[in-house]
Formats: sequence, structure tokens, C-alpha cells
Amino acid sequence: MTDGAQRTHMIDLRSDTVTKPDEAMREASRDADVGDDVYGEDPTVNELEAEAADLVGMEDALYVPTGTMGNQVAVRTHTDRGQEVLVERESHVYKWELGGLAQLSSLQVRTLDGGERGIPTPKQVRDGYVEEDGHRPGTGLLTLENSHNSKGGVAIDPTKIDAAAEAARDLGLPVHLDGARVFNAAVAHDVPPDRMTENVDSVMFCLSKGLGAPVGSMLAGSEAFVARARRNRKLFGGGMRQAGIIAAPGLLALQNVERLAEDHDNARVLAERLAGVDGLDVQDPETNIVLVNTESAGLTADEFLDACEEAGVLGTQFDTHVARFCTHWDVDSDDVEAAAERVGEALDWSN
Ligand SMILES: Cc1ncc(COP(=O)(O)O)c(C=O)c1O
Repeated sequence: MTDGAQRTHMIDLRSDTVTKPDEAMREASRDADVGDDVYGEDPTVNELEAEAADLVGMEDALYVPTGTMGNQVAVRTHTDRGQEVLVERESHVYKWELGGLAQLSSLQVRTLDGGERGIPTPKQVRDGYVEEDGHRPGTGLLTLENSHNSKGGVAIDPTKIDAAAEAARDLGLPVHLDGARVFNAAVAHDVPPDRMTENVDSVMFCLSKGLGAPVGSMLAGSEAFVARARRNRKLFGGGMRQAGIIAAPGLLALQNVERLAEDHDNARVLAERLAGVDGLDVQDPETNIVLVNTESAGLTADEFLDACEEAGVLGTQFDTHVARFCTHWDVDSDDVEAAAERVGEALDWSN
């Protein structure tokens, strides 16, 4: 048995989705007041939807099982079949959702290169727009993402979101924000969450990422939008019954927004320590995601992550030479110090 295999405590930095619900969440689940949510009769879901809408400054919100469903329902609700949708080329909704834009909404995608921070400029939005005519399908939607996962959890400045959204609005295009981690972006900019969503038409955010809920995401927008989205959620198989059981921990999760600052501090410590390991190029984190380039170490990200796992640390492969580590509420500052130490050892073994 190797040293790595003997370790009892694996430090799991694959994602902020690996957290386990605490006692308070489990109790809330057990004690939740429930009803049939397809009939709109689950008081816990109704409360969660109202609180979630409030938090992001929208009229209404819809509880969905996953972030992917929230994004795909939003896109379906905003668009007509055959239209084009403008997406950032590294965005989750385009890259990591099994081509749902085509499969579920019959859309054609036009990608925009949002550069290092993953945010298209107003000019790119205008240039990407296609007017409907006898030959062209027309553009139906612009999607944005904040924080931007593939770019390393960068927290896009709300004024940049405003600028892209205003360009879209001038063209009559609605804007959907994939805000799976929008609270991380808000905390990083020290602004209230509703500042990040001020100029978009809809936002999806996840309760099951940094906020610690075991399951669930929210899709928020105007009352009319959410009413139509509710029908599309049913169409996509997401109409749930006594969903208060899983929504109750979500209500507690909404109280964890400020706590995300701890994850950001831990990510900074992790990045600083990893930057001291020979052969690793580490991107300065803005939120809870740390990207590590392994090329100078002569390792692919997969080889690097195998060595890390041996040493007792889990991460995710993001690109041939890029690995991602993610901090979350089940790891503390001691864990990230220990993780960096183990990664240093791991590189020693593999050299
Ligand atoms: C930016 C972003 N959007 C959407 C999702 C999808 O969320 P889910 O895994 O709940 O479907 C994720 C998940 O990692 C994400 O990072």
C-alpha cells in the first residue's frame, strides 16, 4: 500500500458540489412543511422561490433540480426554435451541457470569444447579432456567465455585464445570466447579489455549490417569464411533488452567501502555496477556483492529478495541462495548507 492509499482523510477539491448537508439542513429536511409543488401547494418551495427572487432583485423564481435544467429551461423560455443564441465560447451552457441548446431548444449557436475574463464586449454582441429576414433565423438570446467557471472562477465586474446586456437590449435581445456561482462574484466585488443581476432578464443560481445545499438551483426573472418557465420545467421532466423536503436545506443555503468569503480566502492561500511548488503555474484566484497549469512540470493535468490523488488530494482535469481545485465549506484553512503540502510531495514523487 502506498503512503497515499494509507491516508485516511482525502482532501476533495474537485468541486464545490461535493459538500455534505450539515445537521441543520438534515433537520430542516425532516421537518419541512410539504405539499404537491406541481399544484403550487408546497409551502417550503413557495417560500424558497420568494426569498430567492428577492435576493437577486427579480419578481419571481422557480425551483429546479439542477443548474443545467435551470439554464436550459431559461434558454427554451426566451427563444423560438431555429433562432441563434449568442454564447461565450467557454461558457458552461454551451460547452458542458451536452449540446442542450440544440437538443432541447433546436437552437443554432453563435460563439463569442470573451477573452481572458470570458465577457463579450458590446461590439462583439452587436457584431454577433443576426436580424431575422427571409433567409436568416434571427438572434433570440444572449447568455453570460458570472463567475466564469472555465476561466478560473473570475468574478466579472457588474459594469461589464451591464455593458453587454445594454448592447443586447438595444437590439431587442433578452439576456440570461448563468450565475451558478453569482454570489461568489458578488462577494468578490463586495456588492449585494442583486447588483450582479440588475441588467439581465433572467438568472440561474445554484444552491448546491458554495452555499452547501444537497440539491437544487433557482431560475429567477419576471413573473411572466417564470410562469412560462414553469411550463418548460414540466416539459423537461422537472415538475416535482413534495419538493419541500429538498427545498428546506435550500432556504438555509441562502443564508450562506457571506460565508463564501472564507472559500475565497482559502483559495488564495492554496494558490500562494501551490505557486511555490516547482513546475506549477498558478492563476491568481478571484473566487473559490484555482487553476493550475502543469506544463512546466512536464506533466499532463491527468498525470498530475493521478499523483495528487496518490498523495490524498482530489482535483479536476480542465484542459490537457490545466487542473482545477475548488474550495468549499467542507474544507478549512488547515485542509488547504495540507493539500498544498501533499501536492508538493506528489510532484517530488513523479519527478
Ligand atoms: C457555471 C455553471 N453553470 C451551470 C452548472 C450546472 O449545474 P448542475 O451541475 O447543477 O447541473 C455548473 C456546474 O458545475 C456551472 O459550473
